Amino acid sequence: MSTDWAPLFPAAVLTRLRYALQAHYSSEAVNEALGLAGSAALARGDLLGVERLTRQGSATEAWIRLFLLGQPISESEAVRALAPLGLPDAIGCGLLTSAQAGGAATVRAALDLRPYSEDGGPDWWILSDLGAELRVGPLDPEHVLGIGAAATTLAQATIRGPVSNALDLGTGSGVQALHLSRHAERVVATDLSPRALRMAATTAALNGLSWDLRQGSLLQPVAGEQFDQIVCNPPFIVGPGFTAESGGFTYRDSGLAGDAVCRELVTGLPARLTPGGTAQLLANWTIDATQDWAERLTGWLQGSGCDAWVWQREVAEPGEYISLWLRDAGEQPGSERWRARYERWRNWFDEAGVLAVGMGLVNLRQMHSSRPVVICEDVPQPIEQPAGPAVASWFERLDYLRALGPAGLATERLRPALDLVLDERSLLGPDGWQPGFTQLRQSGGMRWEVEADSAVAGLVAALSAGLALQPAFELISQLLDLPSDDVAAALTPVVEDLLRRGVLLPPRRS
Ligand SMILES: C[S@@+](CC[C@H](N)C(=O)[O-])C[C@H]1O[C@@H](n2cnc3c(N)ncnc32)[C@H](O)[C@@H]1O
Repeated sequence: MSTDWAPLFPAAVLTRLRYALQAHYSSEAVNEALGLAGSAALARGDLLGVERLTRQGSATEAWIRLFLLGQPISESEAVRALAPLGLPDAIGCGLLTSAQAGGAATVRAALDLRPYSEDGGPDWWILSDLGAELRVGPLDPEHVLGIGAAATTLAQATIRGPVSNALDLGTGSGVQALHLSRHAERVVATDLSPRALRMAATTAALNGLSWDLRQGSLLQPVAGEQFDQIVCNPPFIVGPGFTAESGGFTYRDSGLAGDAVCRELVTGLPARLTPGGTAQLLANWTIDATQDWAERLTGWLQGSGCDAWVWQREVAEPGEYISLWLRDAGEQPGSERWRARYERWRNWFDEAGVLAVGMGLVNLRQMHSSRPVVICEDVPQPIEQPAGPAVASWFERLDYLRALGPAGLATERLRPALDLVLDERSLLGPDGWQPGFTQLRQSGGMRWEVEADSAVAGLVAALSAGLALQPAFELISQLLDLPSDDVAAALTPVVEDLLRRGVLLPPRRS
């Protein structure tokens, strides 16, 4: 359903609020007020450390104490900091709430409002519900999520480049839509939650942007449409299918059991992509004793026509997974409520035979191919951020490999990545130092570490000297005294894998 979703605040309040935000509460103003040490303290959640730096009485400090520390401030301080927005308006629209502290009239934040930006981008502000760290007790079932670790992970992994239309599915407070609005001519943002849509409408208005906001479940609001780019941070929690009514939270529980929500998205998104269009979504999947996780995900993509690169970043066993998400919702470890929820959730894992949950990112590109490339792999290493350029160049290298074919590759002068390190380790044995293992390591990008025997290490050295692939194979065959056809047959798939990973790169075209 496409409706005009009204911001939570009236137009006059928005205008005055924007003015005050620009004057006192930009990313730059906050960084300046806190300095490097204060910004670092904020990033690691040391709110007391930040509080000590905000006692000079400036307007920016008042904003920081209200919205980044969740503290009450005096009404007179609030009046000065908020101007030209009046205090009665700020309370009336639900941004602030009155509170009594030690007999004095104070106000505190009723919503989360914070500055946000990406490298080289404009200042943005995001409105959401107060997070678990700024409120007492568990979150409301209809909680609208602000900027969290998952949102940032997806934003950093997103491919950035001009597109004509983009979709943010499950927009929440509009974080991904903000990023998309820098490079998409038109942004459609959907959510099941009317409150989230009003929050996103407010975020858009505060930033002078306009999105096509639509309500509905998963792909239903965009049925029959296609997009050049789709991003989605879905309610991916694996469990019995909690809903907001049955002890879950709309922001993270889909009401579908197991990993059905992610399966539905991964199987449904390809049809919503234009040719060459990309979809990137965070996802969780179940791991059981009957099937390898990569096989399971590959199965979801059968017949999609999409090239796919699926990263399994982490694997959590049930207890670890449940505790992580109970804590995320502000539940108190050891409380009766914690215990009841833990038991119920854990019983489901046992009954469903789920041994662990894989957590990661699915990158898709619509090729309408009958033989698309689908790679599902573990990516546990800390990769360089933002990761979006690495995803974009992965797809570009697939195109390069596809266009050449193995025969075409033989004459190519491939380049080893400039940030490669050859790491040779020896192991101490009874006869002294013995050759251990040799790895090629990338210090940037995906930071792959791949095993490299003497043939592979020699090949990389030969390529770095400027040899084309076939002469490089011949050199290795002479050095190792092996038939050159055998060397080429053994090393061609290795070269393709190293190319795919970006350890080797296509020749620079002039
Ligand atoms: C994890 S939050 C992501 C919010 C934001 N996009 C981000 O990146 O932080 C998931 C969002 O999906 C919405 N949602 C939940 N169930 C949905 C459904 N069935 N269809 C569409 N959106 C849904 C929630 O309201 C919530 O805003």
